[in-house]
Amino acid sequence: MSNAKIPLAGVIGHPVAHSLSPRLHGYWLRRFGLPGHYIPMDVAPADLETILRTLPKAGFVGVNITVPHKETVMKIADLITDRAILIGAANTLVFGENGKIRADNTDGFGFIENLRQGAPGWRPADGPGLMLGAGGAARAVISSLLDAGMREIQIANRTRARAERLVSEFGPRIKVVDWVQAGNAIEDAALVINTTSLGMTGKPDLRVPFDGFHRGQVVTDLVYSPLRTPMLMAAEAAGCTTVDGLGMLLYQAVPGFERWFGRRPEVDDQTRRHVLA
Ligand code: ATR
Repeated sequence: MSNAKIPLAGVIGHPVAHSLSPRLHGYWLRRFGLPGHYIPMDVAPADLETILRTLPKAGFVGVNITVPHKETVMKIADLITDRAILIGAANTLVFGENGKIRADNTDGFGFIENLRQGAPGWRPADGPGLMLGAGGAARAVISSLLDAGMREIQIANRTRARAERLVSEFGPRIKVVDWVQAGNAIEDAALVINTTSLGMTGKPDLRVPFDGFHRGQVVTDLVYSPLRTPMLMAAEAAGCTTVDGLGMLLYQAVPGFERWFGRRPEVDDQTRRHVLA
């Protein structure tokens, strides 16, 4: 019998049943013929620390963290990457030999990889970005766009104070636009990003006037259910390049999978089709 341990990983959320990550990681494990398991775990907030301290002893090499634990896990982790600190949340944990927990955030990486894949012609210097929303997802998007070299990102958020907080944290390349003015700001943007939950199945519509969309712009939505949101359909009709949100979810999983199971997985059409099936 082999002494090699079978690596275990998974996703911790509360609830967690909706997560597509087990399908995705399970597919990659089978596709590459790698030993390993990836398990969904529903863990209540009060139990999070106990569970995280126990998992390494049970053969876990790391886990993904999802709602509502992405911020609180920062208080438990022993080591935190700079990008997770900047974003204020973690989604990928790697357990060291001694059980030490290293927390990283790969959401910004997932966003930018998906954008580059879906809009290969886009360059950070093409012009300003317009971002709708200023929540947790917005923070990951901003950090990756600033990192990529974007000079200006305008943010429109229903609660203006939340957008202003992002200026104080991320600096003067961030500009605040009134939520009611978001439609007017579309025309001059090279890149438009929806980071709000509006437009998602079961949520209200994103009621921003889209008549400013025109050819040459790139428009992306973090909402991936439905895949083609009303915003993406309006952008497509106006001749914009559109990028749906599923790819961000797929790409954010790449660094974790590579660390835990030892192979960098490909995000391709086959992967997309499998996760959507
Ligand atoms: P996430 O971590 O997914 O970004 P979040 O932190 O709750 O979730 O942020 C949700 C975003 O959607 C916020 O920008 C929120 O605006 P507020 O800061 O004003 O709450 C936005 N949002 C949610 N419902 C909205 C609505 N009905 N109208 C406008 N914006 C909305």
